[in-house]
Amino acid sequence: MAPEVPGIATNGSNMPALGLGTWELSPETIESILPVALEAGYRHVDTAQIYRNEQAIGQVLQNSGLDRDELFITTKVWVDRYQPDDLLASVEESLERLRTDYVDLLLLHWPVFSGHGMNPTLEALMRVRSDGLARHIGISNFNIEQTERAVAFCGPDVLTSSQVEYHVYLGQKRLRRVLARNNLILTAYMPLAKAHAVNDPVLWEIGAQYGKTAPQVALRWLVEQDRVAAIPSTSNPHHVKANIEIFNFSLSLEDQQRIAALDKKLRLCQPEGLAPDWDD
Ligand SMILES: NC(=O)c1ccc[n+]([C@@H]2O[C@H](COP(=O)([O-])OP(=O)(O)OC[C@H]3O[C@@H](n4cnc5c(N)ncnc54)[C@H](OP(=O)(O)O)[C@@H]3O)[C@@H](O)[C@H]2O)c1
Repeated sequence: MAPEVPGIATNGSNMPALGLGTWELSPETIESILPVALEAGYRHVDTAQIYRNEQAIGQVLQNSGLDRDELFITTKVWVDRYQPDDLLASVEESLERLRTDYVDLLLLHWPVFSGHGMNPTLEALMRVRSDGLARHIGISNFNIEQTERAVAFCGPDVLTSSQVEYHVYLGQKRLRRVLARNNLILTAYMPLAKAHAVNDPVLWEIGAQYGKTAPQVALRWLVEQDRVAAIPSTSNPHHVKANIEIFNFSLSLEDQQRIAALDKKLRLCQPEGLAPDWDD
């Protein structure tokens, strides 16, 4: 039987704590791996306009026969569509490709704003939500100062999630506190540190006690935290199945602390021209 993925409560719905990341998955790979993921129990899919795979995802989700309300679909607006009217048009294009009337979560992909600054783009994002094209809205790759400014502009409980790099080697201590204070779900991208965590001897040693692998321990450590979701990516059917088998064990406090001590502020995603001044 497919494992039950716990949901993180958001205004009025639940975001599954584990989703399938799809960056770098070609349409052909989506056609082969997404059906396996759905069969294994995944209901949360993370994509973006820039990934160029929304169409394949829409096709597979439609073919799956699953009800729309069983699924949680996230997409992200690319930075060249941040002008208010264009943002709305870009979301309509995404919805057409994804074959749906709404996405569950719509994010601004990177905090890159031209002369007009952040606020008109946030206003357009809020309009998309009030028009019903996105159930939830949020941000991605915002540093602390940008996060606080966005929350102050939108008001309390408007932004649902911030998607940032977060894994055993990047502790994000300060940002985590800010997100928790503002009730934002932290969606952890690169949750396996882009496979760097796969060979970690400490994670393997810990996993041996529970009959689990290092990647399973790395993912479990994330989803055990309050209001943290993880979106690992894989094109391997064995890995996609293994990555969801993390809801039938719990890490001891001592193991949680050993994993937290692996933090070495290793940041893997910092594209020039997009990344802000990170906080640590
Ligand atoms: N918002 C943003 O700016 C942003 C930036 C980066 C990523 N993301 C999102 O986060 C998702 C995940 O990030 P990511 O794909 O860069 O990194 P990741 O999920 O940390 O790592 C993916 C790598 O781990 C390997 N892997 C996965 N499961 C494994 C397992 N059980 N055992 C061994 N190896 C395993 C995969 O190889 P195999 O294919 O061989 O399994 C792949 O090389 C992306 O797909 C995307 O949706 C968002």
